Amino acid sequence: MSATTYTAWVLQPDGQLKPEQRPLQQPAAGHALIKLKAAALNHRDLWITQGRYANITPGTVLGSDGCGTVVAVGSAEDSSWVNTDVILNPNINWGDSGRHQDQEHYRILGMPDDGTLAQYVNVPVHRLSSSPAHLKPEEAAALPLGGMTAYRALFSRGMLKEGQKVLVTGFGGGVAQFALQFALQAGNAAYATSSSDTKLAQAMQLGAAGTANYTRAGWEKTLQEQTGGGVHLIIDGAGGDSLNTHLSLLRPGGRMVIYGATTGLPHSVDLRRIFWKQLSLLGSTMASDEEFQLMVQFVQQYRVRPVVDTVFDFDQVPAAFARMAGGQQMGKLVVNIS
Ligand SMILES: NC(=O)c1ccc[n+]([C@@H]2O[C@H](COP(=O)([O-])OP(=O)(O)OC[C@H]3O[C@@H](n4cnc5c(N)ncnc54)[C@H](OP(=O)(O)O)[C@@H]3O)[C@@H](O)[C@H]2O)c1
Repeated sequence: MSATTYTAWVLQPDGQLKPEQRPLQQPAAGHALIKLKAAALNHRDLWITQGRYANITPGTVLGSDGCGTVVAVGSAEDSSWVNTDVILNPNINWGDSGRHQDQEHYRILGMPDDGTLAQYVNVPVHRLSSSPAHLKPEEAAALPLGGMTAYRALFSRGMLKEGQKVLVTGFGGGVAQFALQFALQAGNAAYATSSSDTKLAQAMQLGAAGTANYTRAGWEKTLQEQTGGGVHLIIDGAGGDSLNTHLSLLRPGGRMVIYGATTGLPHSVDLRRIFWKQLSLLGSTMASDEEFQLMVQFVQQYRVRPVVDTVFDFDQVPAAFARMAGGQQMGKLVVNIS
């Protein structure tokens, strides 16, 4: 470790991010210092800069996703990690329950703890996982948060069974592209919606069974026809007034897993449809540490590659945030740090 300082993108009181020099500190016992190769954005980072997130803490380095090389550890028994290429599990204090995170102590890397939009990050050793060998650094960095969210939503909360039909909404999103790919690899017919025909063409190239552009009138009829009467499971991060249309696309006994509300809350909920069709509405957030490991194994087994929209240079972090704010991205926005 020859450097004494490093550059980090730090959240300012007005919501801007500014590069600052930070002193480079040796990791404490049980911790590791990682020299980052790449970081990836999540919508959470944007919500924070927009003041639309709980407990905003200026002075924090944002970023929940990253991959890099362990350059130092604080405890001799962890020395086998040194020089290993790793990805980071962004969970902090998930807790003992598989059903939900610890409501009091749970945090996500990248506020209030310093995150990955920096040349170095310091995390507990138990947050490290070897980087999947088939992924380039900019792909590996894109995996953790979106991958774990999609995995839990599909398999734990959505209880997806092979051969079922799944609709993934807003395919251009970082979580959504994982959900579609995981559902396909698990042997399901997966369908996608998007505002962009170009993104839908990409979903078809990945193996989607059908698609619909949700900005066009009657898009739900298109999906009803393609699916032969609806789907068993919907994975949705959009929220808003699409809710009732999405409910209409579920088969009787179907399930909808909601992991986000990008477009806000619905003005009404069609309760009659929910009880008459025996539907289940389920919430999902992140994933347990065990699910994180299962997700990484799944990605290795099926050689899943995150769809990366753009790789920005380290000095272009504001441009990456601007692209996410415009909703133009197809998949993950990555920052090259090496
Ligand atoms: N609960 C959790 O653990 C968790 C984890 C990750 C993310 N989230 C939340 O999930 C949401 C997505 O996160 P992300 O990081 O994947 O965001 P992202 O990469 O910025 O994707 C957002 C996507 O939302 C889609 N969208 C916008 N309006 C839509 C609509 N009316 N109907 C359907 N899709 C619509 C767009 O897809 P198209 O461009 O294809 O139209 C857009 O690409 C955010 O609200 C985020 O806060 C929650």
